[in-house]
Amino acid sequence: MPFNIRELENENDWNFFTDLDFLSFITTIQDVDQFSEKELRQKYKEFEESDSLNPRDSNHRIFILWENNTTRAGLIWLCNRDPFWRFNDQHVWVYNLHIIPQFRKQGLARKLMIKAEDWCLEQGLDTLALHAIEDNLPVRKLYESLDYKLVETHNESCFYEKKL
Ligand SMILES: CC(C)(COP(=O)(O)OP(=O)(O)OC[C@H]1O[C@@H](n2cnc3c(N)ncnc32)[C@H](O)[C@@H]1OP(=O)(O)O)[C@@H](O)C(=O)NCCC(=O)NCCS
Repeated sequence: MPFNIRELENENDWNFFTDLDFLSFITTIQDVDQFSEKELRQKYKEFEESDSLNPRDSNHRIFILWENNTTRAGLIWLCNRDPFWRFNDQHVWVYNLHIIPQFRKQGLARKLMIKAEDWCLEQGLDTLALHAIEDNLPVRKLYESLDYKLVETHNESCFYEKKL
């Protein structure tokens, strides 16, 4: 396969990260078609400002999927995270998984999830966790096919965990 995975390396990669973070953010908005691009950008800005998360911190890792070492096809954003709420162990949290549309349905998200498992083991951990919007059936199907167990539903969110 002409695809490989590399750690995020430079500011162009960060721009790609921000673009896909916005696109994943809007998948969480109900009735998204009712909003203009400008309104969605504003919502994203507000969300970012309300959130203390910093993906540049050392416990975060972003892996970019490349086609032929020339085209960015998707990414996964991971974090080595302390226990919280229903998650009792130190774990790797998946903050974002995104494959750009022309590369979907080729097993590439699955490939990035396997990378996440490898990174989790490298961190000396055996637990991954994440959340998905209830309506996002493609990604839920992906996680369930990889043996993620639904541990909680809250509002429109589904929380999953996997023990390696
Ligand atoms: C969800 C997403 C990451 C899947 O990426 P992908 O590379 O197309 O997924 P894969 O080809 O690796 O598919 C793996 C499995 O996921 C499930 N799946 C993926 N797309 C699906 C779809 N459109 N409908 C139903 N199941 C789907 C299937 O179980 C599939 O396995 P199969 O091909 O053996 O049936 C991609 O659609 C995406 O980036 N969506 C927008 C961003 C997003 O919603 N991110 C998630 C949370 S932030």
